[in-house]
This record gives sequence, structure tokens and C-alpha cells, in this order.
Amino acid sequence: MNNALPPVIAIDGPSGSGKGTVASRVALTLGWNLLDSGALYRILAQVSRQRGKSGDDPAQLEALARGLRVDFKQTAAGDEQILLEGRDVTAALRSEDSGKRASELAVIPEVRRGLMAVQRNFRRAPGLVADGRDMGTVVFPDAGLKIFLTASVEERAKRRYNQLKQKGLNANLPALFQDLVARDERDRNRSVSPLKPASDAVVLNTTGTAVEAVVDQVLDLAHRRYGKAAAGSRQGG
Ligand code: C5P
Repeated sequence: MNNALPPVIAIDGPSGSGKGTVASRVALTLGWNLLDSGALYRILAQVSRQRGKSGDDPAQLEALARGLRVDFKQTAAGDEQILLEGRDVTAALRSEDSGKRASELAVIPEVRRGLMAVQRNFRRAPGLVADGRDMGTVVFPDAGLKIFLTASVEERAKRRYNQLKQKGLNANLPALFQDLVARDERDRNRSVSPLKPASDAVVLNTTGTAVEAVVDQVLDLAHRRYGKAAAGSRQGG
């Protein structure tokens, strides 16, 4: 039955594991669509905050989530661009505060339910590369290729630090480290869709590995799994 649906590569993992960069580059190389599911949680966090008190009500959050109109684009350099109703909101979503509030909202079952259909709508031809925490376990359990990226907390905190600095944002390494530990704890221990590898996921530990090498590993797995379908529109396939 699922043969009729476009193929999905699910890339899950904790914050700072490199999944966002890897997903974006793999999607660009293959010419497939991209879903940064974490950005949906971050956007919902921002939009609901602007609503004040009423933004905390689970039923309202679910309705708000269902109505989100988000697109992901990539610059020629492979950098991700996040559009909310056509407006570029990429920079506003990168702050640590937005990630923290997103992970607080992510424990609410109504929020996850509201975002489910939004996420599944990204599954369009020729294929989808989806990154997050529960892509392979809950949102796309039938994904043909599931990757789970890990890395030590120290390395992940350093990566986040360098990313923020590169973007000219304020960053404090000890604070980032504490925030990652707290976020990991919340993401792994929540009762709905906790962060964990799918039983059929390929687990890649990226500690000490350059992002380019991880991208090559995932592309290699994609070619083996999907053959011509993952030949890549930008490579003439
Ligand atoms: O991936 P990113 O750091 O942008 O995600 C922000 C937060 O959104 C995560 O810490 C997590 O709590 C939540 N999230 C989630 N499920 C996803 C993606 C993100 O719960 N599929």
C-alpha cells in the first residue's frame, strides 16, 4: 500500500547531533523536499507566545498548530531557510530561548497531534528528508531509511556554540551545555513520542566526525536503499 507514497528518509537525534545540517544537505543533493520538524515546534512556541495567556490552552495550541503554513527552502550554499506564510523567519527561530520553549510545548499531546498532519503533508514527490526526534518512530514509521545521529554532550554543546557565534549571536558554552542536558532529559523522558531510535534505525555516532563525512554516509545508505530514486536531480539522475 505504501508503495504509492513518496519515499522518506527520517533523520532523528538530540539537539546538536548535526541532524539539521545533514538533512538539509542530503535533501539538496537528492533534490528531495525537506522537513525540519523542530522548526514547527519553535514557530508554534513563538506564535503562541504572541497570543499571551490564551496561547497556553492545549485546544487552542492544537488549532494553531494545524493552521501553520510553513515552507523550507535552501540557499545555493545548502543553508536552510524557514518561511512562515511566505515570510523568512529563519534567524528569529535560532535562539536558545525558542528551542527551550519549543521543548516545553513538545510534551503536550494536543500540540503533537496538531502538528502531525502538517508534518505528513511534506511527503511529496520525488521524496522527503525529515529531521526531528520522532520522524522514524511516530510521524513516518514506514520511512524506508531511518537514521539516528548521536554525539557526546560536550561535542554537541561546542557545535551549537560555534553555530551561534558564526551567526553573530550571543553564546555561552557552560549555559549551552546545561540547556542541552535539560532539553535531552525532557525529550527522552516525556510520555508522548520520546526521543529514541526506531528499532530499525541505523545509529551513527558523529562525535569527532566532520559533517561532510556524515552526509556522505547517509547519501551512501540512501543510494543503497533507493537506487535510482535517490540518484539526485542535481547530479543528473
Ligand atoms: O530540533 P530543534 O532543536 O529545533 O527542536 C526544538 C525542540 O522541539 C526539541 O528540543 C524537541 O523538544 C521538540 N521537537 C520534538 N519533536 C520533533 C522535533 C522537535 O519534540 N520531531
